[in-house]
Amino acid sequence: AASVPFYDQAHPAGIQTPPQRYAVFMTFDLSKTATANDLRVLLARWTAAIGQLVAGKPIGTVDPSRPDAVGADSGEAEGLAPASLTVTVGLGPGVFTDRFGLREKRPALLRQLPALPGEHLDPALTGGDLSLQACADDPQVAYHAVRNLARMVTTTAQTRWVAMGFGRASAGKGQQTPRNLMGFRDGTRNVSTPEQFDEHVWLTDAGAMTGGSYQVVRKIKMDIENWDADRVSDQEQIFARTKDEGAPLTGTKEFDTPDFAKTDDSGTKIIDPRAHIALAAHENNGGLMILRRSYNYTDGLNAQGLLDAGLLFIAYMNDPQHFVTLQTKLGAMDLLNEYIEHIGSAIFVVPPAPASGGYIGQALF
Ligand code: HEM
Repeated sequence: AASVPFYDQAHPAGIQTPPQRYAVFMTFDLSKTATANDLRVLLARWTAAIGQLVAGKPIGTVDPSRPDAVGADSGEAEGLAPASLTVTVGLGPGVFTDRFGLREKRPALLRQLPALPGEHLDPALTGGDLSLQACADDPQVAYHAVRNLARMVTTTAQTRWVAMGFGRASAGKGQQTPRNLMGFRDGTRNVSTPEQFDEHVWLTDAGAMTGGSYQVVRKIKMDIENWDADRVSDQEQIFARTKDEGAPLTGTKEFDTPDFAKTDDSGTKIIDPRAHIALAAHENNGGLMILRRSYNYTDGLNAQGLLDAGLLFIAYMNDPQHFVTLQTKLGAMDLLNEYIEHIGSAIFVVPPAPASGGYIGQALF
């Protein structure tokens, strides 16, 4: 039922906010003819509309007084609570070009991701000039937000791809660690304290983007039938965690610190160096951490009648190279690769929270 503050915050909502239960993530292409002023108007209109939506209000008239007029708001969130809705706006590399007079304002580290191992990207699930991440505890509230934000800017931006997440696969402060579709707890060791957010997530000295963050999104397909046919003991080797408790194989409780050096009686490492957490842990990556704020997704069945599902991986960091470093290792060596494939990808910068009366990205113009 709660509303999450949107204006006048130190950082944009939807990143440090405890993960809501559902997400809709959509990207957009700016029209070939869109000008700098069109982009400003879009951002100003989105900002005003998001301010309404997160307060549980429609973005305009649902039922106009003129009988033959169309509604400004599509109406399906009428009577629903705000459900902790957050809408996080991202700007892609295509925004920071001469066409919008923004080439000089491009955040230093914002560029398309390089080709990475372990990916078979579908162009129809890749890229975008703008992103909307709408998260809420009610899926209809999240969908309503994205639908109406898309609808109000059709002359300036067109939809590119969308993914719908139905179960959070990360935890915030005070939340129990949920599970991804492989049945394992996901988000046990994540960026969590304010100090860690300052060190690993928020942008400092980044001009108009100071206080914001970089957003890396990957749509990762799981080979669910094969996973389900694998022995649980093998699944546990892949993550180097137990399935039930989520404890590292060198410990007994979920939050025990993994011991990557520990060996068994025969001198073999208990945690395989190619296990997912061994490759991704900050201890083995010079202290590097990214915030994972992912969701489970399903697209139903594929053409072969197999479950089409996976992880909508959404991560925030103050340097996208941190994702590249991790995925370069994971894509090449991770034991998990037998069961997953990266099929979608995009990168954005999230501007700081707007001031009340102002708009998202205002400092760019
Ligand atoms: C940890 C699942 C993709 C980075 C974990 C854990 C699970 C998991 C179960 C252990 C619990 C935890 O500490 O949260 C998955 C699945 C993936 C996936 C199912 C794909 C479908 C990725 C990708 C990255 C990544 C693409 C980054 C490039 C991490 C990191 C940790 C982690 C940094 C924490 C490691 C630690 O400090 O112990 N993941 N993950 N994961 N994952 Fe993934």
